[in-house]
Amino acid sequence: MLLEGKKVVIMGIRNKWSIAWGAAQSAYENGAQVIFTHNTLENEEKIKELIAEIPGAKSFPCDAGSDESIRTCLEEIKKEYGKVDGILHSIAHANTADLRNDFVLTSRDGFAHACDISSYSLVAVARIAKEIDLFNENASMVAFTYYGAEKAIEGYNVMGVAKAALEASIRYLAMDLGKEGIRVNGISAGPIKTLSAKGIKDFGTILDVVEEKAALHKNVTTRQVGDATSFLFSSMSSAITGEIIHVDNGYSIMGV
Ligand SMILES: NC(=O)c1ccc[n+]([C@@H]2O[C@H](COP(=O)([O-])OP(=O)(O)OC[C@H]3O[C@@H](n4cnc5c(N)ncnc54)[C@H](O)[C@@H]3O)[C@@H](O)[C@H]2O)c1
Repeated sequence: MLLEGKKVVIMGIRNKWSIAWGAAQSAYENGAQVIFTHNTLENEEKIKELIAEIPGAKSFPCDAGSDESIRTCLEEIKKEYGKVDGILHSIAHANTADLRNDFVLTSRDGFAHACDISSYSLVAVARIAKEIDLFNENASMVAFTYYGAEKAIEGYNVMGVAKAALEASIRYLAMDLGKEGIRVNGISAGPIKTLSAKGIKDFGTILDVVEEKAALHKNVTTRQVGDATSFLFSSMSSAITGEIIHVDNGYSIMGV
């Protein structure tokens, strides 16, 4: 199996609609030991119920906005499971007002918050994981991004800016961590109806447009994004780093 003997940390599980859940199912079915982290604000009991479907899986609380919380969480994981082979960053947040109003109205605090949680947290996770010696040899990091980083999409607003920073961070982290053989990549997923996506104005219209215009004329599933994540965790992608791979049924390749 693709991920036999590997341990992967899936950061950002919320519910069964989360892309993180599709990634966890794919990693598990491909042979990996799966470890989760969840936002400190989430209902722990509900997370426990969900992940009980995956044998041996545990979830650790982690606030992506706090270095201290990230460190405690990753240290707990290392204590319990030892070093890991992969980390998925499936975390994003922006204030509702900044997704409802015109982008030009984004506040200084709202801009900083979106970038802190959705982009900087990847850098913090990479740095702290390195500091506590959490990575196994040839480890792989993956983060989820969206087309709104490349093009202006009505309603995506400050999250597009945060994703652009995330994508640039992926390239810089790939350069730094590459010295130790660690790879860092992004997956630009097509739109999927999740709790986070509900915060985007007219999200239903985005799904309809993708279905109409994407080369494959359909929307992607969390499992398809998860399968691409498993590929990036695996040695099958050993020469790929610093890349943003579109898993969007070919929406982004279309001209009109
Ligand atoms: N749904 C889509 O259409 C889509 C498309 C492309 C990329 N993405 C990205 O995929 C990732 C997962 O989103 P999703 O759509 O599965 O939604 P989701 O709501 O299931 O997941 C988002 C996660 O971010 C976590 N989070 C928010 N603030 C946090 C904090 N301070 N500390 C720790 N965790 C925090 C939430 O608790 C949640 O678990 C995000 O990065 C999102 O931007 C989503």
